[in-house]
Amino acid sequence: MNDQGIGDRYQEETRYDRSGMGGRGLDWASKPSPFKTYPDCIRRVPIPELSKEEEISLWNVLAERRSLRNFTLQSLDYPVLARLLWATQGVTRREGSSLLRTAPSAGALYPIETYIVINRVEDLSPGVYHLDIGGWNLELMREGSFGQPLAAAALHQDMLEAAATVLVWTAVVARSAWKYSHRAYRYLYMDAGHIGQNLYLAATALKLGCCTVGAFFDAEINDILGVDGKEEFAVYMGAVGRPG
Ligand SMILES: Cc1cc2nc3c(=O)[nH]c(=O)nc-3n(C[C@H](O)[C@H](O)[C@H](O)COP(=O)(O)O)c2cc1C
Repeated sequence: MNDQGIGDRYQEETRYDRSGMGGRGLDWASKPSPFKTYPDCIRRVPIPELSKEEEISLWNVLAERRSLRNFTLQSLDYPVLARLLWATQGVTRREGSSLLRTAPSAGALYPIETYIVINRVEDLSPGVYHLDIGGWNLELMREGSFGQPLAAAALHQDMLEAAATVLVWTAVVARSAWKYSHRAYRYLYMDAGHIGQNLYLAATALKLGCCTVGAFFDAEINDILGVDGKEEFAVYMGAVGRPG
């Protein structure tokens, strides 16, 4: 990689330096909405209260965390999924209009949306759901089995079909670009990484298998979710199931 490629140019053109921090004012009137809801979803399912879990030390969880790609076809219980969702994006404090979460976010702008492909979770029909942060519900967007097309769209990684559920994270770039302009793209992926690590740690604590996935055919994943691929696009996924 001798030539200056797109990556180098991006890094160069989005760097902060002391001579070029002119500082542009924020246009509060055009601040994008902080999270999505789908009023026309097929059904809205409340997420259950957090169940009591066995205490396990953070240090053990960190030591045990591993990417596991072998899942049994056993279902997960909905309260277990609720715990995983809370670990990734649970609201832990309200500050003005900001809903602060378990995972950090650059500027507390939360550009990452969560979609959940349900393959096998008790009390939830298989389909594609969206996580409604404000109301803490799952919004059913598409009913049916999406494990196979999801796996195919992820370069045929069959674990995504065997997993009980797959969290798919998209980025709504305008939320971050409102403040950070092109530099926002750096932060989208960092935000997603924090969320992914929280999923790994929660899954480990619950003795579940987890593997995050960054290899996928972008347009195919975006189509499964029903996002346009421009204003909102898939950035990362996390498969969870009982370890095989
Ligand atoms: C950004 C990112 C993308 C990844 N994409 C994939 C993937 O597409 N398929 C896969 O099997 N593992 C994927 N992984 C998991 C890594 O392969 C795994 O973290 C690495 O081999 C280290 O193993 P460990 O997680 O067990 O420590 C990804 C991990 C990260 C952080």
